[in-house]
Amino acid sequence: MLETPAHLIEAVYKAMRDGKNGYAPSPGIKEALEAIRAEAVRKGIESLQDVFVTSGVSESVDVCLAALVNPGENVLTPSPDYPLYSAVLAKLGIDLNTYDLNEDDAWQPDLIDVHRKINSRTRAIVLINPNNPTGSVCSRELLEQVAELARRNNLVVFADEIYDKLILDASESRAGDEPENARHISMASVAPDLPVVTFGGLSKNYLAPGWRIGWGIVSGEAAAVKPYIEGIHRLLRSRLCANHPEQYAIKPALEGPQDHLPRVLKKLRARRDLTVKWCNSTPRVSCVAPRGAFYAYPRLDIPEGDDVFVKELLLKKHVLVVHGSGFGQKPGTKHFRIVFLPDEQTLTKAYRSIAEFTRERYQ
Ligand SMILES: Cc1ncc(COP(=O)(O)O)c(C=O)c1O
Repeated sequence: MLETPAHLIEAVYKAMRDGKNGYAPSPGIKEALEAIRAEAVRKGIESLQDVFVTSGVSESVDVCLAALVNPGENVLTPSPDYPLYSAVLAKLGIDLNTYDLNEDDAWQPDLIDVHRKINSRTRAIVLINPNNPTGSVCSRELLEQVAELARRNNLVVFADEIYDKLILDASESRAGDEPENARHISMASVAPDLPVVTFGGLSKNYLAPGWRIGWGIVSGEAAAVKPYIEGIHRLLRSRLCANHPEQYAIKPALEGPQDHLPRVLKKLRARRDLTVKWCNSTPRVSCVAPRGAFYAYPRLDIPEGDDVFVKELLLKKHVLVVHGSGFGQKPGTKHFRIVFLPDEQTLTKAYRSIAEFTRERYQ
C-alpha cells in the first residue's frame, strides 16, 4: 500500500489539537502560501504573481475556469481528457473545444490540431502534464511550441501538474546526469511572459487525496493577470476557505522529508514495467509506455465498443478498468485506462483475467 507520509498526518493532528478548527483565510494560511511560493520558485516559475489554496485541484480548476470564461467563449481541452475539465465547462455552459493527443507521438499534444481548433473565442488551453489518462510527459520543445501558440493567440494556459513528482524514468538516472527529458519541466518556467495557472496539490505526490488540498499558482506579467487574480479571489471568498487543519500539512510536505518519493517511484516503475510488458505481449492490446503518474491507456483491437468490453469484463471476470470513450479518443480507435497502483500480484492476476477474457470473447 502507498501510505500518506506519517509526518504529514502528525502535522494535521497537531493543527486540530492546537485549535486550528475554525475558518481559515480564504486564500489559505500564511505558512502554506509561503511554502507554495517557494515550491513555485523551485519549479523555475520566475514571474510568480499569486498563490491560493483550494479543496483539491478540482476546486482550483472550478474557480479558475469560472473566473475566466464567459458563455460563447471556449477552452481547449485535451482528448483524451481527465474529465474534470469537461465537467466544469459543461456546468458553466461553455462549449467543449477539444484538441487531440497523438498516440503515434507518445500521446503528445497534436500541435496542428491545437492550431486548427483555436478561434477568436478561445480563451485558454489546458495541458495536463504528466497526463491522466495516458501517463505521457511533455518535452521542453513541446511546451515551448504550445507556449508560442498561446502567446500568438492571447490564451491563458492551465498547466495541471498535480503528478509532477511522479516521473517514472527520472530516478533511474544518476543525480546531475539526467537527460533533460527525464525531469518534469513546468510550463510556467518556459513561458514566464504568459498568463499561466499551475495546479498542484497533496492528492498524488503526497498520497493524501482525501484531505482535499490543492493549489493554484498564477504567473505572467503583473498588469495582465491582475484583474484575473481579483476575479479568482472574489470566488475564493464566496466559498470561505479550504479545509483548515489539512493546510498545516502543506509546508511539511513541500519542505520536509521526501523519502516516501523514491519508495513510491520504485514501486510504480515496477508496476509500469509489468503493465507495459503485459500489454505488448497480449493479443489485441498495445500500449505507449507511460512515463509519469500511474496510468496506462492501452489500445484495443476489438470488433465492438470499448464500453461493451469494459462492462462485459467486469461482469465476467470482476476486473474494473475505464473505457476509452469515457475520456475521449480519435473516432475508430478503442482504449481502456489502467490504474497501476495495485501491487504486482494483484495486477498480474487482473491482467491474466483480461487476457483470458479477450481470448474467450474474440477468438
Ligand atoms: C490530472 C488531474 N487533475 C486533477 C485531479 C484532481 O485532483 P484533486 O484531488 O487535487 O482534486 C486529478 C485526480 O485524479 C487528476 O488526475
